[in-house]
Amino acid sequence: MADKTYYIETFGCQMNVHDSEKVRGMLAMRGYEQRASADDAQLILYNTCSIRDKAEQKVFHRLDLWKRDSKGKKIGVLGCVAQHNGESIFETAPHVDLVCGSASYNQLPQLLDRLDAGESRVTGLNLDTDETFDLPVAERDNPHSAFLTIIEGCNKNCSYCVVPFTRGPERSRSSASVMEEAARISAGGIADITLLGQTVNSYRDPSAGWSFAKLLAAIGELDGVRRVRFTTSHPQDFTRDIVEAIESNERLCDWIHLPVQSGSSRLLASMRRTYSRDQYLRVIEMIKAANRQIALSTDIIVGFPGETQQDFEETLSLLQEVEYASLFAFKYSPRKGTDSMDYADHVPEEEKKERLAILQGLQQRIQRKLNERRVGLVEDALVEGYREKFQQWIGRTTQNRVLNFADPEGIAADEELRGAYCNVRVTKAGPNGLIGELVSVEYRPRAARSSPALHVLQ
Ligand code: SAH
Ligand code: SF4
Ligand code: F3S
Repeated sequence: MADKTYYIETFGCQMNVHDSEKVRGMLAMRGYEQRASADDAQLILYNTCSIRDKAEQKVFHRLDLWKRDSKGKKIGVLGCVAQHNGESIFETAPHVDLVCGSASYNQLPQLLDRLDAGESRVTGLNLDTDETFDLPVAERDNPHSAFLTIIEGCNKNCSYCVVPFTRGPERSRSSASVMEEAARISAGGIADITLLGQTVNSYRDPSAGWSFAKLLAAIGELDGVRRVRFTTSHPQDFTRDIVEAIESNERLCDWIHLPVQSGSSRLLASMRRTYSRDQYLRVIEMIKAANRQIALSTDIIVGFPGETQQDFEETLSLLQEVEYASLFAFKYSPRKGTDSMDYADHVPEEEKKERLAILQGLQQRIQRKLNERRVGLVEDALVEGYREKFQQWIGRTTQNRVLNFADPEGIAADEELRGAYCNVRVTKAGPNGLIGELVSVEYRPRAARSSPALHVLQ
């Protein structure tokens, strides 16, 4: 391709967001330039998500846009839909040129060369051979927060989930490689690191034998690091040593995302979640007994095949018992290749919708109550952005709550606060977040100190 311009659009989870950063790194090294609009680019890449039908449909809508006339552009499908649907994408969308799953991204340069040489319909669909861990990242999307993948794939095999098909078996990255990248991130002035994996706490160092807790503790000790988070944890592998690591270092955030999926042990068994309601609640008890208050969040699927009113009520009662600070709830979506597709007693769409609304209503009340308890406290907020309309900084607390705040006393004197850590007094609470006022600026990001025109960089 003489014209080395590209456009990339990303769907799905944080792992995909981070994968796109790696793909951009690879393209930059090959002399490609990114464009903000697909119209201006010669190569169009969609990094896709397959978790629910809606996510997949979004991608095919995008591809439809180019169906009649792709204007000589090359179109590539990356990520989970690419891996899951494979070459059948060429049948649904004949104008697609490239299909490549995440485990094959280190082959992308060769695949693009083949396109340049005139080949069509090239694929990279190996699942567990090639690793993407050590691909260079040209530039992270966010100058103050970094994602770092420590484990790929998943061995858990839940009966409803495509991830084991789209990302392959579980592979942990060596602790030496993780530590090297974490050190590079913090040396580059990024103080907030999120460790990523579909089952991040199933991490087991393939060489030195480090546990997840040991890796977490070691990253928390690095110079320049202020916050370490990790997602997503699986309840089965959530061991006491992870809580101990959090207890012994305040840089490890007071927040754990621990998807439960359902409050009914009967359904958990049919989902193949490998724990019962009671076992899950024992993990929650252990986390709540920590010496710092740790906020919890979760994922729920409503309307799983066979879910009765009684099962659903058990999920509601679990929400009341745990009191999550936030929650993602999804209507069950049958996915091809998964076992639950063939289960009996699919719940009607209307019923799923109704249950989702009831669940979200209850969760809003719980969140409002928990958030109201924060009023009057001074919280540490990492500033993520600015809301012009409300003249408020957008902040996030260590418990992962949104805390937007103004500066009525002019303490920051109009300086750029993005990337700074501030002490903020909480003055108001709603179900979805907190409002506050700036008390003091605790820490300014290194890049901001050396460059007053930080906003220009963003
Ligand atoms: N590995 C994580 C997250 C996987 S995907 C875990 O085990 O929890 C993120 C969320 O999508 C899941 O937690 C689940 O709630 C939801 N999900 C996965 N497959 C789904 C399906 N077929 N229908 C609806 N929601 C689904
Ligand atoms: Fe999917 Fe289950 Fe693996 Fe999570 S643990 S990615 S839900 S198979
Ligand atoms: Fe979606 Fe793939 Fe992530 S299916 S949720 S993008 S791992």
